Amino acid sequence: MALTKTDKIWHNGRMVAWDDARIHVLSHVVHYGSAVFEGIRCYKTAQGPSIFRLREHMLRLVRSAHIYRMDLPFTVDQLAAAAGDLVRANHMDSCYIRPVVLRGYGDLGVHASSAVPIETYMACWSWGRYLGEEALRDGVDVCVSSWRRPAPDTLPQMAKAAANYMNSQLIKMEAIADGYVEGVALDEQGYVAEGSGENLFAVYDGSLWTSPVAHSVLPGITRASILTLASNFEIPVVEQPIPREMLYIADEAFFCGTAAEVTPIRSVDKITVGAGRRGPITERLQKEFFAITAGETPDRHGWLTPVNVTVGAAR
Ligand SMILES: Cc1ncc(COP(=O)(O)O)c(C=O)c1O
Repeated sequence: MALTKTDKIWHNGRMVAWDDARIHVLSHVVHYGSAVFEGIRCYKTAQGPSIFRLREHMLRLVRSAHIYRMDLPFTVDQLAAAAGDLVRANHMDSCYIRPVVLRGYGDLGVHASSAVPIETYMACWSWGRYLGEEALRDGVDVCVSSWRRPAPDTLPQMAKAAANYMNSQLIKMEAIADGYVEGVALDEQGYVAEGSGENLFAVYDGSLWTSPVAHSVLPGITRASILTLASNFEIPVVEQPIPREMLYIADEAFFCGTAAEVTPIRSVDKITVGAGRRGPITERLQKEFFAITAGETPDRHGWLTPVNVTVGAAR
């Protein structure tokens, strides 16, 4: 999916033209992967564009920066306000929002000296379904990757850091090269961690299983939302290490994440999961998730931040 330009990108507190949001090739981030970022969806609703779990995303961004000793000069509230300004400035009725905090240009040692500035950017653009529209209904065929997630004492998985996505790229590229839609990474011990860019749930004997955060998963905001919906529906949840073979004998499985939203998994390693299609518990959670994000059902958890936009107004 190629990028579709919008007008403005937010940079360190002010809007700049899309084409002016540039960095130097000798920026620290280009060489060492020193950036943390977020991916956030803004949904079209009858009440206007609404950003899903905006504060939680910005809080995770601030925490990711903190883990990497990056002094981010903006608070969660300032970043959340900037996201609203950005959607307004670009007159979007729905979009994907990408804040990124990076080590910029000034010095090039691994130890980022005080000469290396912290730069904060935020862009937004139109984005469709990550794994395809039909995937949401029919499910996807995935494999267990030969690449594992890094051990907990190597690269911190609670940080959404750019460098982590070199590992995700290996997982995703291998899966695509082998004819699958996505790859599932195991953790250092061989338990199921997550997809290259999404968390994973399995339904097993009526309970919803997902890997604990200590098992090399990003603490996904969609994952947390699914856990809340499961509790609303009184579906028992088990957060325990998941052996690989549980994916094969699960009644249902699905991915969740900002990109993948709630996408059923119909096979793993060419072994059919359950009935080989979206299962009833997946469907119930998926429908509720989409009803909330579309503003069709009351936002009882306060997950949506409406943005007052004049959509498509003259620029
Ligand atoms: C590696 C990884 N795991 C899980 C997720 C899902 O997290 P969230 O639901 O916060 O988007 C993402 C997406 O951000 C991800 O990149």
